[in-house]
Amino acid sequence: MVLNEEQKAMLEGEYGAGTAYAMKIQFAIGESFDAPRMVPITRAHVALSNQEADLWFAEKLLAGGAKCRVAPTVNPGFCYEYFTKRNMVAPEYADLMMRTHNAYKGLGAVLSYNCTPYTEMNIPKFGEICAYSESSATPYINSVWGARSNREGANSALCAAITGYVPEYGLLLSENRKGDILVHVEADMKDDSDYHYLGMCGKKIGEGIPVFSGLPKNISPAALTNLGAQLNTSGAYTMYHILGFTPEAQTLEAAFGGRKPKYEVVITNQDLKDGRDMVSEEGSRRIEFAMFGCPHFNLDQVRHIAKLVEGKKLAVPMYILVSSFTKEMADRMDLTGILNAAGAEVIPDTCPDQPCWHFLSGKYGVTESPKCAYYPKRREIHFVIRNLDECIEAAMSGEVK
Ligand code: F3S
Repeated sequence: MVLNEEQKAMLEGEYGAGTAYAMKIQFAIGESFDAPRMVPITRAHVALSNQEADLWFAEKLLAGGAKCRVAPTVNPGFCYEYFTKRNMVAPEYADLMMRTHNAYKGLGAVLSYNCTPYTEMNIPKFGEICAYSESSATPYINSVWGARSNREGANSALCAAITGYVPEYGLLLSENRKGDILVHVEADMKDDSDYHYLGMCGKKIGEGIPVFSGLPKNISPAALTNLGAQLNTSGAYTMYHILGFTPEAQTLEAAFGGRKPKYEVVITNQDLKDGRDMVSEEGSRRIEFAMFGCPHFNLDQVRHIAKLVEGKKLAVPMYILVSSFTKEMADRMDLTGILNAAGAEVIPDTCPDQPCWHFLSGKYGVTESPKCAYYPKRREIHFVIRNLDECIEAAMSGEVK
């Protein structure tokens, strides 16, 4: 890979040890993918995990004097204020969150703590070169916005934010963005939750860029978020197309670049059910809580729940995870008041895969998101998966039908 003068100076340490370390990693990635050169980015998103390895890496860069040239938004950890105020988190985990916060603050990141920045505060334009990590973020910006990002890891996205460059390979190149598999969706796509279950069909869809046909003309941002998040729970997809809907797939010809699909797949209602049940606990049963917002819920989704529970009492606690922006809007619109009165909490900055949820260990909850059910399994937190309205009903009765 050929570097320009500035990139060489970074690699040789003229911009400090932290930047040199970041460039060294990116140079190795570029070499391993046979990238001919590096190109500048204008946006980044770092899927920080608030775990020891991630913190070690961020603190190492910080100690080497690194500063982000392109300030990245960052993924959720947990809301320090909410969980420490209620004594819900052990001191060592509170300390971990504070150190993560300070490390990323020192590096100059935007402390957004949100995994759906592509709909609120970090929205790229068509064709913009970016470095995004996070399972729902990378497919969303590639597929829905037509921006260009490889499937960065949290660490490589942070390196890109520091150097301001990425190696040019993969989805940054037009020829690699064409569809491979034609996916005929014959299932009834009744609501946004069904896009979660469509995304869980990765095993049946197989490897490559899927082109979905047969989907409705209007697909909500939440549904598109769900689709990308679950495609990366059931497989590893950086991009998809929706025929006649996403910008690089207005026609079959454009979606496949004039080639024939490698093969075709049909997705039925049974496939959606199988996708959902792959990580769901068996229903019907009593539940002890409900959790939504993996990926983070937007204001429309919060408003939908508030409408259904207004004036009622939930049988079990409900946790709705959102960005701080959505939380602020929900507060202003008194949606938070309605939800709190019913027994639901709107919590910003927080992910289900965090140690703040240890108090739910051994319990059974309900969620509409397979990803929400998948990660907390390792903390012995169990979920039955149903669509959103069925989950809300279950939270009102304390039982999944
Ligand atoms: Fe977001 Fe955490 Fe789920 S990062 S998608 S809330 S696992």
